[in-house]
Amino acid sequence: MKKNILLGLTGSIACSKAEQFVQEYKEIYNFKIIATHSSKNYLSDKFLAENNVISDWDDLNGSPHIDLARFSDLFIIYPATANFIAKINSGIADDLLTSTVLMFNKTIYICPAMHEEMYLNNKTQHNLLELSRDNIILGPRYGNLDIGDIGYGRMIEPKELYNTITKSKEKIIVTSGPTSEPIDDVKVITNKSSGKQGKSIAIELLAKGYEVIYIHSSSISPIPGAVNYSFNTSKELFELMCDESENTKYIFMVAAVSDFTIEKVEGKISRKNGEINITFQQNFDLIQKFKSQNPHIVCIAFSAQIDNDENFNKLISKNADYLVINNIVENSFGSETNKIKLINKDKLLLNTGVEEKNIVASKIIDSIIK
Ligand SMILES: Cc1cc2nc3c(=O)[nH]c(=O)nc-3n(C[C@H](O)[C@H](O)[C@H](O)COP(=O)(O)O)c2cc1C
Repeated sequence: MKKNILLGLTGSIACSKAEQFVQEYKEIYNFKIIATHSSKNYLSDKFLAENNVISDWDDLNGSPHIDLARFSDLFIIYPATANFIAKINSGIADDLLTSTVLMFNKTIYICPAMHEEMYLNNKTQHNLLELSRDNIILGPRYGNLDIGDIGYGRMIEPKELYNTITKSKEKIIVTSGPTSEPIDDVKVITNKSSGKQGKSIAIELLAKGYEVIYIHSSSISPIPGAVNYSFNTSKELFELMCDESENTKYIFMVAAVSDFTIEKVEGKISRKNGEINITFQQNFDLIQKFKSQNPHIVCIAFSAQIDNDENFNKLISKNADYLVINNIVENSFGSETNKIKLINKDKLLLNTGVEEKNIVASKIIDSIIK
């Protein structure tokens, strides 16, 4: 039996992808399409005429929001504007589509499409984070946007949407950002990692439809659509990795973990005490320990090096499956670009030029997950 899909369209130029999605999959799904008034500006007359698109209350008899919500096996908003996301997160029901969202008591797939500034706006991030508790947020990813811009906000492709709704999602952990080890209640030892490469990997995996567990440093932001956890110390990070290991297929260990830990002093060490000596103890290798406890999980380790050596010994000593080599002399911390090498135990798999971190993320993922 064909599944019933309720497709909500909102006012974005990405509506052309919704037309493509319906065209490509109408043989296998029964579509009912609700379009906001604004979305009709971005839909072709042919599509509107051929697909019985509903927009107004009086396009159908009775109480269409009730009938439509009960008709559907799956409810997908593709594309979802910033405006629409804000409205449904507030529970507004001032038109047919928002009212049907309120009527629908199962998970909704929401595919944001907007310019980068709108997506990164705190209000949109807040709305998406709240909506992601009960719904599935797919994308957006980094890529080409309106008026020739490039950035975050590009809606996922029809094929990716299809893959997500048909295949069971693999669970992937991405760790990101610096650890901070306390010296006392106030001072910490940390490092210069910005977390941008880890974030790019998590966002790209989300756009590809994976279930992403994003374990990020408390100093960096969570990502809407991921299951987010934050850490301070390397110990907290390791505990979160272990807590989430069940059913995990891959772990991208992008977090910059301190090589050393310190015996923490309670309170605040005062300047009045004069010179102090801090003893650094060698930290354990998180990925090595994690892999020994979870041999079935594919581990992708990241190594900040001062050279470009293809460090097969390091990969073997960590017992990781892949190593991403990041030359920290050539690539400055916090920059938007990166240049990496990817190796497995046998050979060099990828050697990128200096490229946007998002492009690098996409290339790393495509080299590992086929
Ligand atoms: C040419 C053009 C393109 C637009 N593209 C987007 C977009 O991609 N994402 C977005 O959130 N808003 C976009 N907007 C703004 C929305 O159309 C506007 O917020 C509208 O009120 C959305 O209505 P709806 O959410 O009810 O469909 C665009 C506006 C114009 C004029």
